[in-house]
Amino acid sequence: MPDTTATTTLEQHLDETHEARLGSYKDFLRVPSISTLPQHAPDVRRAAEWLAETLTGAGLEHVEVAETGGHPVVYADWLHAEGAPTVLIYGHYDVQPVDPLDLWTSPPFEPVVEDGRMLARGAADDKGQVHAHAMAAQAILATRGAYPINVKYVFEGEEESSSVHLDEWLAANKDRLTADAAIISDTGFFEGNLPAITVSLRGMMYSQIDVVLSPVDLHSGGFGGAVQNPANALAQIIAAVKGPDGRIRIPGFYDAVVPLTEEERAALAALPFDEEAYRVATGVSALIGEVGYTPLERRATRPTLDVNGIWGGFQEEGAKTIIPAHAHAKVSCRLVAAQDPDDIFQKLCAFVAEIAPPGVDVTVQDLGGGRPTLTPVDHPVTRAAARALEATFGQAPVYIREGGSIPVAASFESILGLPVVLLGFSPPHDNAHAPDEWMALDNYEGAIRAIVRTFDEIGAADGAGAD
Ligand code: BES
Ligand code: MN
Ligand code: MN
Repeated sequence: MPDTTATTTLEQHLDETHEARLGSYKDFLRVPSISTLPQHAPDVRRAAEWLAETLTGAGLEHVEVAETGGHPVVYADWLHAEGAPTVLIYGHYDVQPVDPLDLWTSPPFEPVVEDGRMLARGAADDKGQVHAHAMAAQAILATRGAYPINVKYVFEGEEESSSVHLDEWLAANKDRLTADAAIISDTGFFEGNLPAITVSLRGMMYSQIDVVLSPVDLHSGGFGGAVQNPANALAQIIAAVKGPDGRIRIPGFYDAVVPLTEEERAALAALPFDEEAYRVATGVSALIGEVGYTPLERRATRPTLDVNGIWGGFQEEGAKTIIPAHAHAKVSCRLVAAQDPDDIFQKLCAFVAEIAPPGVDVTVQDLGGGRPTLTPVDHPVTRAAARALEATFGQAPVYIREGGSIPVAASFESILGLPVVLLGFSPPHDNAHAPDEWMALDNYEGAIRAIVRTFDEIGAADGAGAD
């Protein structure tokens, strides 16, 4: 059993340090660590250094801003709980770009607290969760001087740009990353802000289709009708890859998909999900999708194909009569077990080559991806996290499937051989990746307590890997 006196002292400490903690959270959010934009590379590094200093100040050891060839990984550990399990903890300190700026009610890197919410880019995804881990470390070491278990922290700086260099870093550091399990804090609570443990994530294949006619735009009077129009050709390709029934028409696309069992469908159907409330909260006129599946199934357990951006030709006001020289689209697929991003990319390329209209050059670029993840629901660390969530938030967690992707989850399994537990705290509809991203301070404060309790629960369990 966790020591209740120690818990009381820790709670007092957290009460007393509340204001300082919010100040520190805001300092972290002020650093514009946008990993995908090259001009922000120095800011990403500054965020890494800020985090490393904070972890050092908390009393963690072997703190390092480790080079990866891309943005750095921040590593830290505390390894003095001899005989106790070791948990590797992951989050990311990089954030998404902030455009369109004019839709933010306050500037994205000038955090403000309003109505119990921290408002800033990264407040939820994922700096808020990383900061909660740092503050849990600080509270544990300040009040107890020791953890009940061994911990290794890996905080990444390029999750939002497909974790390009992380696999190599994991493989090179395999020996010092040994653990009994990995806890990833980069997911959220369920609709209605119900505490949740995520048990599956989708994978990702991201591509760009380029259609080229000529070096320059052509007069649409002089040439229209006699040459291929690349924008029309691109539209034909996009219309062909997915049907109006929501099914993807790329041959072999569904071959590797493991269908949900009746039990799994029943478990999803049993979640307290109000379709109409979800539609309204999302701000759309209707929910649509693949025939034969519920919205919950579509958004998390079925693969998708979506255009993320499409451009070419004349974009200004008024009319300009041209045949555009070229047209482009960013096309991504969310993947489910056991689809492989490289295999799906090859199948997309082959299909596009087959259906591409004549008279233009069509190429498909691979912009990266990641594999889907299924996590064990009955692992001792999952059970410890569930007890901690219930004790902290007064409600047992629901087990959910998420439509988003965290490529490192599959890498922890395949490269480090670690079972993964997705223990995340961001509220639903937190505007992650969108203007006015926010974190509920109740979730953030609860996260710190739940993280400490999870460690206590793991430590109280009888030996490594048991409970
Ligand atoms: N935190 C998200 C992943 C996520 C999203 C988990 C929604 C649960 C629900 C993560 O930061 C993210 O945005 N991942 C990217 C991955 C991509 C860049 C390969 C994503 O899902 O688009
Ligand atoms: Mn994230
Ligand atoms: Mn994200």
